[in-house]
Amino acid sequence: MALVKITKLLSQTIGLDANVVSPSQINRAAETRRVACNFPDLDRYWARLQTSATELEELIELIIVPETWFFRDRKPFDYLKNYVASEYLLKPNRNTLQLLSVPSSTGEEPYSIAISLLEAGLQPKQFNIDAIDISQRSLTKARRGIYSKNSFRGDAWQERSYYFQQSEQGYELSKSIRDLVNFQQGNVMTALALNQKQYDIIFCRNLLIYLKPEVCTQVLAALDRLLVAGGILFVGGSETGKIVPDQYTSIRQPFTFGYRKSESPIKQAVIIKSLPSISPDIQPIKKTHLSTNSNHQSCEELDLRSVRKLADDGRLIDATTLCKKYLEKYPTSADAYVLLGELYQADHQNSQAVEKAAQKAEQCFQRAVYLEPNSYEALIHLALLKEHQGDTTGANIIKQRILAMRSRNGSLGGGT
Ligand SMILES: C[S@@+](CC[C@H](N)C(=O)[O-])C[C@H]1O[C@@H](n2cnc3c(N)ncnc32)[C@H](O)[C@@H]1O
Repeated sequence: MALVKITKLLSQTIGLDANVVSPSQINRAAETRRVACNFPDLDRYWARLQTSATELEELIELIIVPETWFFRDRKPFDYLKNYVASEYLLKPNRNTLQLLSVPSSTGEEPYSIAISLLEAGLQPKQFNIDAIDISQRSLTKARRGIYSKNSFRGDAWQERSYYFQQSEQGYELSKSIRDLVNFQQGNVMTALALNQKQYDIIFCRNLLIYLKPEVCTQVLAALDRLLVAGGILFVGGSETGKIVPDQYTSIRQPFTFGYRKSESPIKQAVIIKSLPSISPDIQPIKKTHLSTNSNHQSCEELDLRSVRKLADDGRLIDATTLCKKYLEKYPTSADAYVLLGELYQADHQNSQAVEKAAQKAEQCFQRAVYLEPNSYEALIHLALLKEHQGDTTGANIIKQRILAMRSRNGSLGGGT
């Protein structure tokens, strides 16, 4: 009984979705604290929990998932650098760029933002980064700025080791970078509503997945209020399906999971396509030109829509299974191969899996181009993948092909 009450309290306090965190995890945390407090049973611990804010904080520390690392997902930070160079720096009367990282956990995310901005050519006085997290322990580690190798995945360490100094305790981030982030403790359930600032860019990654649906909606509404019109919101790879507001459009860059808020205050019913598929500067040729078998075209679109719907709901495994089934039935559908490639790109958790997923995605996009040589989306994906792999020559060859297609077609949206 006490465990049910404790779960309910956690849900009310931090918005925790009890379906996401298992009862055994909550039980383990509560038991650890019960023993630490010297109570003979959970009922007594529950009585303490109700009257002690400090004890509730201790329990929350054991429940939260502080997992994070520098340049996580990489692409949002590449996008940020491009955004600064191609949009922000070109603005005539630009104000200080305001950014928010929530939740910031142990600091790797906001520090990656700071490093990206410096690398994009901004001076420290040109930007401000606020970082919020509920965990005091994580914030203490963040302010200290000393990390182990676990905070670096893939090639992030080799590329940026010069920002760190090796000490006995680990790798210490240089003070000049640490000074660029303002850390504050805050619970998203209250802190966002109290925040009076306006941000150009918000990173809210890998939190929404742990929240109850109604809290998720509340947090997204609070973030919407904090984000300027035209501002950018980044979410986690498995959180794109959580976004159902009507004022955001995907920035449509693979792996970025970023959305731009509408410039206009008028609400428009824009359905967010959660899986990024094309470069933002080039519009897709009409879908009808991508299908190879016109006999089953309407059926094909309907089925692929179901796949996309599953993906938008964050059910990537189900979406992948359905898409594969679809391909068994229609093995010549270039659209389905493009979609499967996008699903492989979206469904990754760590850098090793990213590489494997990228390989599988590449095979899908190649297959789509084989089936439909003018498959615009597949070509764009292939160009971006090659760029990501450092194969600039390969990427340029594909871009030339896209440009040739565009000039043949006359206009972007017209198709052949
Ligand atoms: C998995 S980390 C995400 C860190 C970073 N954004 C990233 O994507 O790498 C989740 C963080 O959410 C924080 N958190 C959980 N519930 C919270 C709440 N109600 N308010 C603020 N932060 C919360 C936890 O303390 C934890 O540090």
